[in-house]
Amino acid sequence: MVEEIEGDEFALSTPPSVPRRTSKLGIVGAGAVGSTMAYAALMRGAARTVALLDVNRAKVEAEVLDLSHGIQFMSMAEVIGSDDVSVMADCDVVMFTAGAKQKPGQSRLDLAEATISLVRKVLPGIVEVAPHAVYVMVTNPVDVVTYAALKISGLPPSQLFGSGTVLDSSRLRYLIARHTGVAVQNVHAYVAGEHGDTELPLWSSATIGSVPILDWAGADGAGALTREVRDGIAREVVESAYRIIEGKGATNYAIALAGSRIIEAVLKDERRILPVSSLLDDYLGMSDVCLSVPSIIGASGVMDRLEVPMSSDEILGMRRSAEAVRSVARRFGF
Ligand SMILES: NC(=O)c1ccc[n+]([C@@H]2O[C@H](COP(=O)([O-])OP(=O)(O)OC[C@H]3O[C@@H](n4cnc5c(N)ncnc54)[C@H](O)[C@@H]3O)[C@@H](O)[C@H]2O)c1
Repeated sequence: MVEEIEGDEFALSTPPSVPRRTSKLGIVGAGAVGSTMAYAALMRGAARTVALLDVNRAKVEAEVLDLSHGIQFMSMAEVIGSDDVSVMADCDVVMFTAGAKQKPGQSRLDLAEATISLVRKVLPGIVEVAPHAVYVMVTNPVDVVTYAALKISGLPPSQLFGSGTVLDSSRLRYLIARHTGVAVQNVHAYVAGEHGDTELPLWSSATIGSVPILDWAGADGAGALTREVRDGIAREVVESAYRIIEGKGATNYAIALAGSRIIEAVLKDERRILPVSSLLDDYLGMSDVCLSVPSIIGASGVMDRLEVPMSSDEILGMRRSAEAVRSVARRFGF
């Protein structure tokens, strides 16, 4: 800082010692998803402080050390971690990835029950130390968990939402790009509805460049997205998580990058359009259910949901998805 001494002479003055506010990312669960998400966020320089919380103390301390040893090669940041909730104090954004893994013989519903009781045990304490954070649920079944977390925490629906179909949409875009031979970054297409078996690609509004996907002919018709091709791609999007889990036991890289994209949208108030799972209020006549629709994400969380034009089949698909999510939530008293 420069200040005028006399006439046109200038000298350096001491900067005021006002503490500067820096961004803090909290990640609950330092497992495959949580620790890779920390790595992705650090690599992208998303936050100045990354805090990990996990019941497994040895694991969280090891992840903190390993990540910290790589900081020299990234944007400057600090990584902290603990099994004590105070590590989450004053976070700006909290990604909730803690959850039981499906064990042999355990159904998806059993998993939902275990996860909801984990959220009930852990979330209120975090909200107490980080009341202003934006909360993003990642743990599965994410739509049901998000709905339960809203009820448990009492947070407004703009401040707590789920990662939803951000990952599924990137899988969809990858498959469309591979089929048509164009860059994935030029494919604009969303998967909406449940993050799960009833999810659906919104083909009628999807584009490549500015060409509607339904009109895309490709070179000599080779890359055309016929009904058969579209159905095959939609099936592959749903099945890809099962395939990855079968091969390596967990999905971590793409969900970590998808999560990092959400983190940056919040921390930098980017107002990006992302298909997150939030509490719908008269969206296509649907209310009181958490489902993914393209939404505007900024510093305060979900700022708005887009009224995407949908075909009658897509509207029916959304309603089917809402029913599937609702029926699981009701089984657990939500
Ligand atoms: N929404 C998505 O798109 C998406 C994608 C991939 C995975 N997931 C989900 O993310 C979750 C995590 O998957 P993972 O592969 O990282 O599992 P993981 O078992 O590797 O990690 C879970 C971590 O949670 C921790 N944990 C358990 N109870 C805790 C508690 N009370 N407090 C703090 N930490 C606790 C465990 O110690 C473990 O380290 C699963 O539910 C998975 O289905 C969601």
